[in-house]
Order: sequence, then C-alpha cells, then structure tokens
Amino acid sequence: MQHDAKKVDLDRDAVWTQIRDESATAVRNEPLLGALIHAGLLHHSSLEAALAYRFSLKLASGEMSEQILREIADQAYSSSDELGDAARADLLAVYDRDPATHRLIQPILFFKGFQALQAYRMGHWLWRQGRYDMAYFVQMRCSECFGVDIHPAARIGTGVMIDHAHSIVIGETATVGNDVSMLHSVTLGGTGKEDGDRHPKIGDGVMIGAGAKVLGNISVGHHSRIAAGSVVLHEVPSCKTVAGVPAKVIGDAGCSEPSHSMNQLLGTGEYS
Ligand SMILES: CC(C)(COP(=O)(O)OP(=O)(O)OC[C@H]1O[C@@H](n2cnc3c(N)ncnc32)[C@H](O)[C@@H]1OP(=O)(O)O)[C@@H](O)C(=O)NCCC(=O)NCCS
Repeated sequence: MQHDAKKVDLDRDAVWTQIRDESATAVRNEPLLGALIHAGLLHHSSLEAALAYRFSLKLASGEMSEQILREIADQAYSSSDELGDAARADLLAVYDRDPATHRLIQPILFFKGFQALQAYRMGHWLWRQGRYDMAYFVQMRCSECFGVDIHPAARIGTGVMIDHAHSIVIGETATVGNDVSMLHSVTLGGTGKEDGDRHPKIGDGVMIGAGAKVLGNISVGHHSRIAAGSVVLHEVPSCKTVAGVPAKVIGDAGCSEPSHSMNQLLGTGEYS
C-alpha cells in the first residue's frame, strides 16, 4: 500500500490514530502478521506503550529480562513527555524524508535506525538519571541488535533520521542537532589525538551521507551537507556542502529549503 499524501500535519493524537489505522489495514492485508502487529501496536493504548514493548522485546537477552527493560521504559516514558515527543518527531522525520517509507508503522516495526535511536534515547535518559551501568547495557544491546553504537552521554536532537543504520558510531562528547539526517556507516568520532571533549558538534538540519567520518571536536554548521564517503577533519561552515578525503567545501547547500514541519508541530527545543 502506498501513502501518497506524506507531508501531512499530524498532531500528537493523530500520529497514534494513523498508526492504529495502518495497523488494522496491514493485518487485513497480511493476516500472518496479525500476531506481530497486535502484540506490537494494536494491543497498546499509546505510542509510548508500544515503543516500551518494542524496546524491551528487542533488547532483552539471557542476562536481562524483557520485564525489567519494560519497567525501565514505562518509567522513562511516563516521567515526562520528552521521550514520547522525540519519538514522534523522529517517526515523522523518517515518514517525511525517506522515500521508502509510506506508512508510520514501517519504522516502528521494521526499521532499525528508528528503533536504535529510541533505544539510544532510553540509554540517554538512564545516563541523565545517573544510572550509568544500565545505560551502558542499553548501548551494548543496541550495538548488538542494530549495529548502532551511540554512547549514552552523546546528545542528539529530535526529528532525526538514521537511514539503513548499519555501522553507526557516535562518540561520548558528540552532539547532533535537531532535524538531522544521516545514512549508514557514519562515524562521529575522535581523532584519537584528543582527550575530554573530543567529538564533533553537528548543527541543525545537517545531512550526513553514507560512510562519512567526522573526526575531532569540530563543528558542522546548520543546514550543511557532508557527501558520502567524506572524511571531515575541519570545521564546516553553515549552509555548505563538503566532500572528499579530507573533505573540502565544494559549494552551497540547502539553506533556502524550509524547515521540516514536524519540528514546528511538536515544539522541539534544545537537545539535552
Ligand atoms: C590519521 C590521524 C591519526 C591523524 O594523524 P596525524 O598524523 O596527526 O595527521 P594530522 O591531523 O596532522 O593531518 C596530517 C594530514 O593528513 C590528513 N589526514 C588526517 N587524517 C586523515 C584521514 N583520516 N584521511 C585522510 N587524510 C587525513 C590531514 O588533512 C592533513 O593533511 P594536510 O597536511 O594536507 O593538511 C587521524 O586523523 C585519524 O584518522 N585517526 C583515526 C580516527 C578514527 O578512526 N576515529 C574513529 C573513532 S570512533
């Protein structure tokens, strides 16, 4: 089923209503997925409850039960609207920007970039609570399950899309702005020559192409683009495109493009 009117305005309740409608249609179209879609989506009363279920199902292991992870996730989602709002903004970012995404249920059920990002958000929530070892556990399982290794102390804004998401590495002191898109095999890492604050600071609205390596405590300005396969070792000004190894400015980038509407709708602010 294709969903043609993708760039729609969806408020908080409308997101969940659309997810439930899509789920019912999906079960009708493929009854063999009925159990999965019921357990994963239709059984729940909110997006947060569905995400808590999915987080615990995917990250449970022989040494950590689904029940314990579910309790943590329920506690996190009920502690404030922040995590749920971030998840909605991320979901709408994928729906809006990924041409292969035609329904909201796809990222929740099938796309590891979205699921890994929500798992990172859970780990970051634990980190901010001072529950460092549980946060490290979540980081480890996220890496094992999804191939996405994000340090729980890293700070990531909302409305973020990680497409394909194999082999993503984001270091401890990295920051990623709102409305950022990145493809697979992106590293936001250190050069190996610095201690302390040693990772990149990515501005809002930046697009990072597949395989790009951004190394060191350098800033990448708002609405810039980093070409696939680049190695970025120096600061990138706003609204520029950089490419190559090592990366150089090759032109302007996308400043005139309007912001994605999901950030405005969900009132996302500074990333914490
Ligand atoms: C290679 C590395 C160790 C730097 O070595 P260095 O000898 O100190 O190099 P410098 O930073 O002084 O740069 C020297 C030159 O090499 C270039 N250079 C450095 N790293 C480079 C890289 N990875 N690819 C291509 N060129 C690179 C620099 O642009 C510079 O070129 P220039 O002299 O024309 O300006 C470092 O850049 C690197 O790649 N470290 C690995 C980091 C990593 O894997 N991080 C992931 C962590 S998760």
